[in-house]
Amino acid sequence: MTMHPDCERIMLSEDQLRSRVKEIAHEVDKVFKGKRPLVVGILKGSIIFYSDFIRHLSMPVELDFMAVSSYGSGAVSSGKLKIKKDLDRDVNGRDVIIVEDIIDSGFTLANLKALLLERGAASVTIVTLLNKLERREHDIAPDYNCFDIENEFVIGYGLDYDEQYRNLPYIGILKRSVYEK
Ligand code: PRP
Repeated sequence: MTMHPDCERIMLSEDQLRSRVKEIAHEVDKVFKGKRPLVVGILKGSIIFYSDFIRHLSMPVELDFMAVSSYGSGAVSSGKLKIKKDLDRDVNGRDVIIVEDIIDSGFTLANLKALLLERGAASVTIVTLLNKLERREHDIAPDYNCFDIENEFVIGYGLDYDEQYRNLPYIGILKRSVYEK
């Protein structure tokens, strides 16, 4: 497949994504052997990663989704997460695996983990595709992460700019001219 013209360059190819996602899923699979976790995808950015990740899990899993807003993640953060779509399942007593596309400031995952533990989850494990370490403002780290990345504007494989590019099969860096015009 040729690169989208709005991409500066490809950061992670389809092959790199495929093999690393498989590797991470196998690690998680071993740890959760004999359990029945609730695998929670955070909409919308995680959808492609989520669907590739769960297909490498061999334990019985239940799938659920949440949509949250990371507005308020700035310096004057209220510490409250805005829930746009909540889970269908009760997390009380459950082992929960959160699947996220990216951890940036850490606002979303720090608040989400606290919320699920507050609701009685037995454990909350965080699995991320991308980790922008230098952007971290909140004391939270993924338990499993596929790639540490620099602070670049990344698109594709679920990630968007203005709801575009989520369907690109690779992770690309968006040209500055696209978001600065
Ligand atoms: C992105 C991403 C995380 C959050 C990470 O979601 O999917 O949920 O931002 O940022 P943080 O660590 O600073 O909280 P976004 O709000 O862009 O929504 P989307 O997944 O629908 O694209």
